Amino acid sequence: MSGSTPRRECAAMDVGIFGAGHIGLSLAGLFDRAGHTVHITNRHPDELPDLLRDKGLRHARASSIDEVVDSATLLVGAVQWDQLELLTKELPELGGKIWIDPANPFAREADGSVTLLPTDGRPTSAIVADMVPKAQLVKAFNNFTTPMYRSGPLTSLGRIVAPLAGDHPAALCRVAELIKTTGFVPIVVGNIDDSVVLQPGGALRALSIPMIAP
Ligand SMILES: NC(=O)c1ccc[n+]([C@@H]2O[C@H](COP(=O)([O-])OP(=O)(O)OC[C@H]3O[C@@H](n4cnc5c(N)ncnc54)[C@H](OP(=O)(O)O)[C@@H]3O)[C@@H](O)[C@H]2O)c1
Repeated sequence: MSGSTPRRECAAMDVGIFGAGHIGLSLAGLFDRAGHTVHITNRHPDELPDLLRDKGLRHARASSIDEVVDSATLLVGAVQWDQLELLTKELPELGGKIWIDPANPFAREADGSVTLLPTDGRPTSAIVADMVPKAQLVKAFNNFTTPMYRSGPLTSLGRIVAPLAGDHPAALCRVAELIKTTGFVPIVVGNIDDSVVLQPGGALRALSIPMIAP
């Protein structure tokens, strides 16, 4: 597979990202290259400007949690599973916001290994949706690894598919539009109950290569 993310002419969006770790910075880069304005925060916002500059992110702004919420309708919860509850308790009510949920229920151990946590048979996104009850949740970006964001959507077979799921059609459309601007191909796989196929152990996680739209 080869190729890089194409830059597209599109209406620029504001995207808020909570978390500037592996997935937060990877998504920030993806959206930045697509021309969107990224408002991103972590627990050390004073260190963020240098980090964003080092990553070459031209449209990303180091922000406080409140600034992220105020600046964007599309909000990404890019913190670890066990950090989500604390983060969401710090947030105001999120009426009118779309919560993009890339979270997988892993605990990271001290030695760097990860353990899959039990969710009592519930879709992980249903659990996250309960933490942001006023927002419209869309499951997306949880099944990509960070190298895939860097290498981009183009392969010799076609473009890589970015699956998403959710209960709110308008929110799915907004996130699908965002995905299209990055060059990946959005495919809605169903509602929150169906989003289990995207979780660790789900059917779409068992594929040996990502889905590709020729
Ligand atoms: N890593 C991947 O390739 C990948 C792929 C798909 C999905 N995911 C999912 O994405 C989520 C994040 O994973 P990750 O690997 O990116 O984790 P990570 O590298 O540990 O990054 C977590 C980030 O969240 C920030 N954070 C934690 N609590 C916060 C709070 N209350 N307010 C603001 N920022 C806070 C941390 O800030 P500090 O740096 O200041 O501590 C850090 O920047 C997980 O659910 C994971 O399963 C990861």
